Amino acid sequence: MNKFSYFMPTKMVYGQGVVREAGASLALGRKALIVTGKSSARLSGALDDVLAVLPGEYVIFDQVENNPSVHTVIKGGRMAKEEGCDYVLAIGGGSPLDAAKVMAVLAVNDTHPMDLYKMGWKTRALPIVAIPTTAGTGSEVTQYAVLTIDEEETKKGLGGPDLFPRVSYLDPKYTESLPMDVTIDTAVDALSHLVESYLAKRATTASDLVALQGIALWGTAIEALRQGKVDLETRDALLLASSLGGIAIAQTGTALVHALGYSLTYFDGLPHGRANAVTMRAYLDYTKKVAPERVETILELLGLGSTEAFGELMGDLFAAHIGTLKLSADTIEKYVTKAMLTNNIKNSLGEPAEAELTEIMEKSIL
Ligand SMILES: [Fe+2]
Repeated sequence: MNKFSYFMPTKMVYGQGVVREAGASLALGRKALIVTGKSSARLSGALDDVLAVLPGEYVIFDQVENNPSVHTVIKGGRMAKEEGCDYVLAIGGGSPLDAAKVMAVLAVNDTHPMDLYKMGWKTRALPIVAIPTTAGTGSEVTQYAVLTIDEEETKKGLGGPDLFPRVSYLDPKYTESLPMDVTIDTAVDALSHLVESYLAKRATTASDLVALQGIALWGTAIEALRQGKVDLETRDALLLASSLGGIAIAQTGTALVHALGYSLTYFDGLPHGRANAVTMRAYLDYTKKVAPERVETILELLGLGSTEAFGELMGDLFAAHIGTLKLSADTIEKYVTKAMLTNNIKNSLGEPAEAELTEIMEKSIL
């Protein structure tokens, strides 16, 4: 008999035009802290749509960088407090969404972000509205936020049930303005969430259903991504697949691909999705030894005959970067040591030992 729990309290509103249709109900309070990155909220048209219908007051914090820092969330949290904001509205990719979640905590808790990791927080975060402009993060339907922690030279996630956005508005049109490299990076992030969830130790009947549907949907986008011609219908599939990935990892967490990817982003500057792409084929090869039927199912749903074909797909998607990543034995050892400290490794089927993680890194594709 299966035993599991399933929790995803975010109201999802999906489809073209949903933000304007939401009208006054977009507001969850009297005054919003609107959190964005430097450009995508404006370029995508999402910010215009929000401002056209949002009732009440707002202030805009538009300084969230890629891989947001502790410093940035402190600034945003302080702004929310000083301005008397009573909810947070986040627009953008994973960075603005994750930063906004931590700001929602800091707005009502007198604490340092680093202490949130150690001790959590007492007062419930301000309610959050999330409007993704990329199809990758899944943050609009998770309880997680990932920050860059310079003290520990890594990216690190924190989580809490109040970090699930209260409502998410998903409009595939907002992803149309993304450059193709960002479209691919974020799509591969979504795929890694779906795959890592399905191959996680914490996978459940419910998370599997979600992950498998997401993998199948993602598979419909493969040829368009390969050709670098992604139309709105494909973007629709990718955005939904990305959210399904978020719902799946909200139940299971991620696994070793993310743990190793954090170092590739922190030290080598790889975008998050590309960092995940580096180890994914070797991860599938490793997991095949302990859960062959699960890996087969993933490959079948993607329409790929083998892990080799999966590796070729990653190679095609990141062709411009092949050969650019050079990792010495010492560097690999450092990344593996860091990854071993995370819970992600214990959550990976087979619980790879240090030597196995090293082998996975050595077989990386870029
Ligand atoms: Fe991710």
